[in-house]
Amino acid sequence: MSDRGESEIRAEGLSVTYTGGGMTTRAVKNCSFRVPKGKVVGLVGESGSGKSSALMAIPGLLPAGTLVSGSIYCGGTDLAALKEDGLADWRWRRIAIVPQGAMNSFTPHLTIERHITEVLAHHLKTHRKAGRERAAELLRAAGLDAAMLARYPHELSGGQKQRAALALALACEPGFLLADEPTTALDVITQKEVLDTIVNIVRERGMGLLLVTHDLSLAAGICDTLIVMKDGEIAESGPARQVAENPRHPYTQRLIEAIREMDVAR
Ligand SMILES: Nc1ncnc2c1ncn2[C@@H]1O[C@H](COP(=O)(O)OP(=O)(O)OP(=O)(O)O)[C@@H](O)[C@H]1O
Ligand SMILES: [Mg+2]
Repeated sequence: MSDRGESEIRAEGLSVTYTGGGMTTRAVKNCSFRVPKGKVVGLVGESGSGKSSALMAIPGLLPAGTLVSGSIYCGGTDLAALKEDGLADWRWRRIAIVPQGAMNSFTPHLTIERHITEVLAHHLKTHRKAGRERAAELLRAAGLDAAMLARYPHELSGGQKQRAALALALACEPGFLLADEPTTALDVITQKEVLDTIVNIVRERGMGLLLVTHDLSLAAGICDTLIVMKDGEIAESGPARQVAENPRHPYTQRLIEAIREMDVAR
């Protein structure tokens, strides 16, 4: 795994403002947080609170025209100050993402194998044969049979696609994984299985994981730290247990109550 002293991602005073269509939306306002290697950090909050915007700011994947201010340090480099060609060096190889709706982001006419071998060829200059072997290893690590390599995306179930998206994100052995609602479209049991796979892999490999989810109770069970976002700001953050069991902010308390009510309704 590439290290280069990149022991954490540290956002300081991060703000994201969308400017498209003549409208200005301040999606992230002056947020500071850390994602250390070897830790699982949960970013929770209701829809529209700015979770995806904060996550996508890290590898510089926000739409053109979006204003980003503040700093995103990793190993002494401020990613927020890098231009596109500088950021390209970070994506996949050092910081990989499983984006929101990853299961719909595959190219329909390419097999799963081609998706992985092309990433390996592009970023690591891996030759075809070695790439194929590596792709099989990656799929197995993500909990899929290597026979799935020959399949096209539409030939996989939702859970299998999410696992394939995980395999793809892990292809270049990044130190950090940013996963945005990686299991939301799945049934509850599959959600748990896929999340367990993700968390086991990042823990085994000592990676840092930023896990975005709106499900606070789920995040509390697997994360080391929780960050609760509300209206683009961090309402509270701290050790996962403490935030979930002893929330200080009324908003966090409301999120927890909403989950309890849903559980009762089920
Ligand atoms: N490309 C965009 N252009 C303009 N506004 C945007 C854009 N993307 C997001 N927003 C706005 O920024 C705010 C934060 O959105 P964001 O997607 O970060 O929320 P989220 O917490 O990830 O929500 P969800 O849980 O629904 O995924 C929202 O008000 C949203 O409408
Ligand atoms: Mg989102």
